Amino acid sequence: MARLNWGLIGGGEGSQIGPAHRLGAAVDGAFAFAAGALDHNAEAGRAFGRKLGLAADRSYGNWHEMLEGERARPDRIDLVTVATPNATHFEITKAFLEAGFHVLCEKPMTITVEEGEEIVRLSRATGRICAVNYGYTGYALVRHMRAMVARGDLGRIRLVVAEFAHGHHADAGDADNPRVRWRYDPAQAGVSAQFADCGIHALHMASFVTGQEVTRLSADTVSCIPSRVLEDDAMVNFRMDGGAVGRLWTSSVAIGRQHGLTLQVFGETGGLRWAQEQPNQLYWMPLRGRLQVIERGEAGLSPEADRASRVTMGHAEGMPLAFANIYRDLAEAILAQKEGRAANPAADLYPRAEDGLRSMAAIYAVAESGKAEGRWVDARPPMFR
Ligand code: NAI
Repeated sequence: MARLNWGLIGGGEGSQIGPAHRLGAAVDGAFAFAAGALDHNAEAGRAFGRKLGLAADRSYGNWHEMLEGERARPDRIDLVTVATPNATHFEITKAFLEAGFHVLCEKPMTITVEEGEEIVRLSRATGRICAVNYGYTGYALVRHMRAMVARGDLGRIRLVVAEFAHGHHADAGDADNPRVRWRYDPAQAGVSAQFADCGIHALHMASFVTGQEVTRLSADTVSCIPSRVLEDDAMVNFRMDGGAVGRLWTSSVAIGRQHGLTLQVFGETGGLRWAQEQPNQLYWMPLRGRLQVIERGEAGLSPEADRASRVTMGHAEGMPLAFANIYRDLAEAILAQKEGRAANPAADLYPRAEDGLRSMAAIYAVAESGKAEGRWVDARPPMFR
């Protein structure tokens, strides 16, 4: 039986990411879908909420109504997911944290570094969780990569190579399509388009797996489609606080690439390669050894990978179950807080507001460096310098 109540803002009918959140939150039965303000159109949002089984009085027309309605209830939601367009994340997340709710915010967490710092401060001051949905870190084999690096299988990490390159905005004839245009419009997207949309997933993954944070970077940003003000392709070189050298390519004009998130980590004694489109296999090459394919679900993996693996080996397991691992970690953190006990350390892997803030600082660093012909710049948020 569900023990926690969950609410969703955004993720309306036809949205890209709403279904993955609803699936991910439902998998373990820890969360009951209890409230929503699902659409920018109040009537469409209420109707879709009722279609999904929400009670009429908890299928809200907008997030302000939801905040007021939920705040007053004894069975108020325990966690709210913010899955609206980027420019609204800050005000919604801030309002719900201030009212004492735990939040899972979509990436990018905010539009500016200052807003990111405010969310971190608020989360710390209120003691409320603010998680950020770097959902790919929920994959079993990504968690296994992290465990392998942490236990020293690769030795000292020399290089991390991350990509998030797809081809879905490659059609120059599509540049005026309203669903595409806003992403490259600084007034709506901020200082970066492709890096802020996809590159930050790859950069966060590099930190998650290596356990190192990005300190400085140099970026080559370009708009391959000349009418675009913001970049549709970027190559970013970076350095990490544990000494790793990083390379990152992100693109939206790489025709033929579909999702395109991949991560490679090379240490002194071995190398790893993982791709989101084949998430159930991890390629491992020990120094002087032979190339091995590690299968999700096989015996002898790390406890982190065992815990994150949901169906038996050989069955396809994908992105909604990666999200489910983020939700299960959050359920454990929230229940532990409610019950006044320590949380299971194995569940302590969900990305934090601090990670969302680091991404914001990296976005501004990429924009600054890109404008300055690749000059190396500090990529850390002022708060962490
Ligand atoms: P979308 O445009 O497909 O859907 C957005 C939904 O939010 C729509 O249903 C819209 O009606 C609703 N909405 C807009 N303003 C609202 C408001 N003020 N109140 C309530 N509902 C509102 O967008 P998509 O692609 O689903 O992206 C949403 C967010 O999720 C973005 O921040 C995006 O960066 C992030 N995202 C994250 C992914 C991940 O892997 N973590 C993958 C895809 C998107």
